[in-house]
Amino acid sequence: MPDSVPAADLPPGAVRRAGPWAVVNTGDRLAAVSRRCRHQLADLSDGHVDAEGCLVCPWHQARYDTSTGEMVSGPRGFLGYHGPAPGYSGLVKRFGQVLRLRVRRAVRRGPDVVVEP
Ligand code: FES
Repeated sequence: MPDSVPAADLPPGAVRRAGPWAVVNTGDRLAAVSRRCRHQLADLSDGHVDAEGCLVCPWHQARYDTSTGEMVSGPRGFLGYHGPAPGYSGLVKRFGQVLRLRVRRAVRRGPDVVVEP
């Protein structure tokens, strides 16, 4: 049985959990990426979609391109600290550009959005 979410629960801008995937509706398209942030493993299905259609991590706001899984902006903080950390953020971003999130197609199928294997 494929991982899926009810399409009614995934309006534009929403992120939902489907098994190991964070399923995203950017408003322009559907996508699925692996759920663990490359920074400190936050659950990306608790994140949100920003105005540019990127998936934003709920802990330190690293941003991901959901079409490639690449981290496009590094974290704003670490552990319990939330604030500017430019050198550190750039280092994590370079790591996240190489070790990308896994990406799957997500498609509308009847009443559900299904993550393709
Ligand atoms: S855990 Fe995702 S940005 Fe820190």
